[in-house]
Amino acid sequence: MCPMMPKTALSTLLLLASMVLPVLAAAAHKAVHLPCSQTCGTGVPAKQNLTYPFGFSPGCPIQLNCSEDGDALIGEFLVQSASPDTITITVETKCDRPFRSIDQLYGRNYAPMGTNSVLLNNCAQTSACDVPRTQVIQAQFQSRCEPSNKTNTSMSCYSEKANHYNAMFLNRSGLFDLGCEYFLSSISAEELNDGSVPLRFQMLHLSWWVNGDECECSQDADCVQLLGLPNGGGNGFRCKCRDGFLGDGLLAGTGCRRAKSSPKWEKEETLKVLTIVLPLMVLVVVSMLILSGVYVITRKRKFAEVLEDWERDYSPHRFKYKDLYVATKGFRDQELLGAGGFGRVYRGILPTSNIEVAVKRVSHESKQGMREFVAEIITIGRLRHRNLVSLLGYSRRKRELLLVYDYMPNGSLDKYLYNQPKVTLNWMQRFRVIKGVASGLLYLHEGWEQVVIHRDIKASNILLDAELNGRLGDFGLARLHDHGTDPQTTHVIGTLGYLAPEQMRTGKATRSTDVFAFGAFLLEVACGRRPIKHGDTEDVLLVDSVFSCWDSGDILEVSDPNLGAEFVEGEMELVLKLGLMCSHSNPLMRPSMRQVSQYLEGDLPMPELPSTGISSCRLTFAHRPGLDDLVVSCPSSTGEASVRLSSVAESILSGGR
Ligand SMILES: *[C@@H]1O[C@H](CO)[C@@H](O)[C@H](O)[C@H]1NC(C)=O
Ligand SMILES: *[C@@H]1O[C@H](CO)[C@@H](O)[C@H](O)[C@H]1NC(C)=O
Ligand SMILES: *[C@@H]1O[C@H](CO)[C@@H](O)[C@H](O)[C@H]1NC(C)=O
Ligand SMILES: *[C@@H]1O[C@H](CO)[C@@H](O)[C@H](O)[C@H]1NC(C)=O
Repeated sequence: MCPMMPKTALSTLLLLASMVLPVLAAAAHKAVHLPCSQTCGTGVPAKQNLTYPFGFSPGCPIQLNCSEDGDALIGEFLVQSASPDTITITVETKCDRPFRSIDQLYGRNYAPMGTNSVLLNNCAQTSACDVPRTQVIQAQFQSRCEPSNKTNTSMSCYSEKANHYNAMFLNRSGLFDLGCEYFLSSISAEELNDGSVPLRFQMLHLSWWVNGDECECSQDADCVQLLGLPNGGGNGFRCKCRDGFLGDGLLAGTGCRRAKSSPKWEKEETLKVLTIVLPLMVLVVVSMLILSGVYVITRKRKFAEVLEDWERDYSPHRFKYKDLYVATKGFRDQELLGAGGFGRVYRGILPTSNIEVAVKRVSHESKQGMREFVAEIITIGRLRHRNLVSLLGYSRRKRELLLVYDYMPNGSLDKYLYNQPKVTLNWMQRFRVIKGVASGLLYLHEGWEQVVIHRDIKASNILLDAELNGRLGDFGLARLHDHGTDPQTTHVIGTLGYLAPEQMRTGKATRSTDVFAFGAFLLEVACGRRPIKHGDTEDVLLVDSVFSCWDSGDILEVSDPNLGAEFVEGEMELVLKLGLMCSHSNPLMRPSMRQVSQYLEGDLPMPELPSTGISSCRLTFAHRPGLDDLVVSCPSSTGEASVRLSSVAESILSGGR
């Protein structure tokens, strides 16, 4: 039985309720603004490091899905990472992925960027593509599809640059107009600062934004407004914290906070504390104590290094992170020497010895790979040759790897070939650089117990020392990608224009793919032009121009106009012809680096050039038997990208392995 409630008690209860209810209602109202969680619904932590506005709960402006293993997903595609302006996803090559899957990439808050090229199968219409020599790439991708399943497949490639010049996004309606059946894969081709265009297979970049007409960025953040977005023409924005600040920069997010490591901030805070009046002196002392405690701890943490067991052997090569931090003045932008495919390079002066060094900062994706990679770097670091940039040692902190090299006061060769204002090298200097690089590469290939493949020879990787000798840099670094990331998905396999055709097909680097790249480099130095010139309608390959001049009997016509007539004709002709010879599509027809050195030193006469297999129109398949039925068009003719598959796949399968 329930006891009767006294009247007074009832009224107080009512009073209490009337006070509490509005608070509850307010709380309920507030709860509409749901929190954004970065852990999967099942409580599994996400494998990718995502921050606001990305997350997995409905409160996140950009809500992603989560696989059972904790991988972030957009539709069926795996998210690799999300940076302040792009989302990187993996598009595994799949022959039977329906074309409409591509729609999963056009979300409320993201869309594929115009720098991607998508590979499609069975399209009603042909499309243009800006990945050059598409036949080769098509062969690589298409050969994975079982030709027996689909008797009538044909592959197309679509890229925005080739269709609507420089569009920011892949045009969805343009893609759908092609009437394709399958969405095979994707290649992202993003131009880097140094003008190189690494191809990343099976990768796609999405640009993202937060919807809204007005910028809603926090203090200390800059806003990027995006208008007329592919999500139906709406507007959006992104926020980016200014230098020295960290965070998502969004009003609704965590905004920007000062990077705690900035020593300036510590000083400012200390000053502020000092200006507080006398009565608060005690407080000041206490807070100063706390502050300096925090400072010491953050500093300690900042420079904390873990020396793992396997590293003990390498201790002579290991630099202290703190020393490198001091040497480069905290990796200050003013000390930046350059940025390329592998990371940023800073100039530094080592604190105790006052030696000038170059510090390369590479970020490393996986912990497992680190050990092998460091082992390899140390092995490679033992290589000593006057035409190689010496690796002095390394330093490691968390995922960051720092490589310390000899400082090369005269910078990289490409600056002298292309930059404004032009300080060009004369022919004598260029020829010496060429001979030096050849001798360095010969040493890598043959001069050591182990063959070292450079994998990324190009003018921007050739550095000039104080006497203007050419020195090869970055050797072995391309292996980073083998250890660091999943080799099945995204790897940079080199730089367009320096990639040998068989390397595009198989992804395998050999001595003769290095020779091919060296050939492109020879032509580059002699002609003062990059191996590929991107044009509005067509890409011009340097090797084609040199070949046609040689064909018409005046090879010297292509020599660098900046040299005028100031060169030794015999040497120029030798370099150009040797460049052509190294560019042969058949690896067996290319000379070895030993022969190249002998030709350059005049110890061996150059043989006659073969008349086939060099120019790109004949390049890709000319030497392969049984491919005559394949329509191989010059990349420059119409940009036509459709190739009859059955013959390609068949011949790759029968002739290739
Ligand atoms: C994410 O960041 C945390 C802390 O910085 C780190 O411990 C973790 O390994 C990172 N995970 C990935 C996948 O990068
Ligand atoms: C997540 O999954 C739901 C249900 O399957 C789907 O509607 C939504 O589009 C997915 N979101 C993303 C970002 O993939
Ligand atoms: C294959 O495609 C061609 C042209 O697109 C068509 O003429 C032919 O009938 C098709 N063959 C089969 C078996 O579908
Ligand atoms: C996208 O493609 C369609 C059809 O091909 C074209 O009409 C439209 O102008 C394109 N849009 C942009 C932004 O290039």
